[in-house]
Amino acid sequence: MNAREVAGAAARRLEAAGLEDARFEAEVLVREAAGISRAAYFAGAVLEGEARRRLEAWLERREQREPLAYITGWREFYGRRFAVGPGVLIPRPETELLVEIALEELRGAPGATVVEVGTGSGAVAVSVAAEAPAARMAATDISPVALRFARLNAAAHAPGVQLLLGNLATPIGRADIVLANLPYIPSAEIDALEPEVSRWEPRVALDGGSDGLRLVRELIADCAVRLRPKLLALEVGFGQAEPVAALGRAAGARAALVVDLAGINRVVCLRWA
Ligand SMILES: C[S@@+](CC[C@H](N)C(=O)[O-])C[C@H]1O[C@@H](n2cnc3c(N)ncnc32)[C@H](O)[C@@H]1O
Repeated sequence: MNAREVAGAAARRLEAAGLEDARFEAEVLVREAAGISRAAYFAGAVLEGEARRRLEAWLERREQREPLAYITGWREFYGRRFAVGPGVLIPRPETELLVEIALEELRGAPGATVVEVGTGSGAVAVSVAAEAPAARMAATDISPVALRFARLNAAAHAPGVQLLLGNLATPIGRADIVLANLPYIPSAEIDALEPEVSRWEPRVALDGGSDGLRLVRELIADCAVRLRPKLLALEVGFGQAEPVAALGRAAGARAALVVDLAGINRVVCLRWA
């Protein structure tokens, strides 16, 4: 069978497993399993032996709702490939907004010190460092597994990023710009999320405590009292922007909201004088 015929059968299996984008995902899995380009896929490349066995194992994993990116081992973010796998959050497209905000800020101060708190795969920190090499970039995470992925990704795209294990910004002495996409899902809501998230992505990357804002509150307090960055940019969930802006104002900051491509208030920018 050629790759497209194999993908047709694979799509039917994925559809039966409840996947919305079964055709697209089947094509990706077939191309990745065979190591072929889109052009070769459409030109009728044949799938055999090892590639067929690999695809079968991958389909079984995807039928269990393991995320596609864990199976292929990578996800694209800000134009680069980031290694991901079980134990690290898969970077989301809306988080690219944090990169854009940092790059805009760095245009006025290219040598500034930037810190990303809760870096996961390193997608944000590594993208900023790769796009703005004059900046000094450090990033933290409390998860050793996440930091292993971040190290791989930094080595591939921006080897100068300093990666530190620890709670929030505590390993950091000073910062001009702080970026964070912290866990912000209320604990009680996690089990109701799609299985790819609730069953597979790490709780430590999702769980923001009873109202979702436990770690956000802690980081704002640390910035207000100790770090005093010029800018703290926080990604937030739907409906959280106003409460987080209010937390910032109560900590003496000016607050501005930034919308994502879907028109949702996605990032809260807090500035101290
Ligand atoms: C929502 S994920 C974001 C990951 C990455 N920045 C991204 O946007 O793809 C949150 C990250 O914060 C980390 N984290 C959770 N609690 C933390 C803490 N107390 N201190 C530092 N990092 C923490 C998690 O391990 C996870 O990697």
